[in-house]
Amino acid sequence: MKKIAVASDHGGYLLKEKVKKHLMDRGFEIIDLGTDSEESVDYPVYGKACGEAVASGRADLGVVVCGTGIGISIAANKVKGIRCGLCTSVEMAHLAKQHNNANILALGGRTTDAGLAVKIVDQWLDTEFEGGRHQRRINMLDQM
Ligand code: RB5
Repeated sequence: MKKIAVASDHGGYLLKEKVKKHLMDRGFEIIDLGTDSEESVDYPVYGKACGEAVASGRADLGVVVCGTGIGISIAANKVKGIRCGLCTSVEMAHLAKQHNNANILALGGRTTDAGLAVKIVDQWLDTEFEGGRHQRRINMLDQM
C-alpha cells in the first residue's frame, strides 16, 4: 500500500487530522509530519517537510493543509520534483492528477469543509495520470 505524508500548520491541523483518519481507514500508511495542535506554527516548515518526504521517495504522495492551502502549497512547490496542487473542488482534484500528476494535494482547513475535503482527496487518489502531452509539460516543469 502507498505511503502518504501529511503535514499542516495550526490553521490546517483539524482538517489534517480528519484527512489522516480517512486515509488510514482506506488502508494507506501515513507519515505524519505535524503539526500536532492548533498552536501557532509556520507553514513553510511543514510544506517543505512534506515536499522533501515525497521528493526523496520516503512517501509516495503527500497532503498538506494550512488555513487556505495557499502558503503551504507554495512552500511544498519550492522542493524540486514536487507538483503540489491546491484543490477546492472535486473537478480540480480530478484534473490535478489527470493533467498535472500532482504528487502533493493542498487543502484549506478554513476554506474547505471536511466532507468536501475527503471527496477531493478520494478523487485525487483514484484518478489516473493521462500522460501523453501532459507528460511533456511535466518534463518542462522538471527542467525549470
Ligand atoms: C495562518 O494564520 C495562515 O496564514 C496560514 O494557515 C495559511 O492560510 C497561509 O497561507
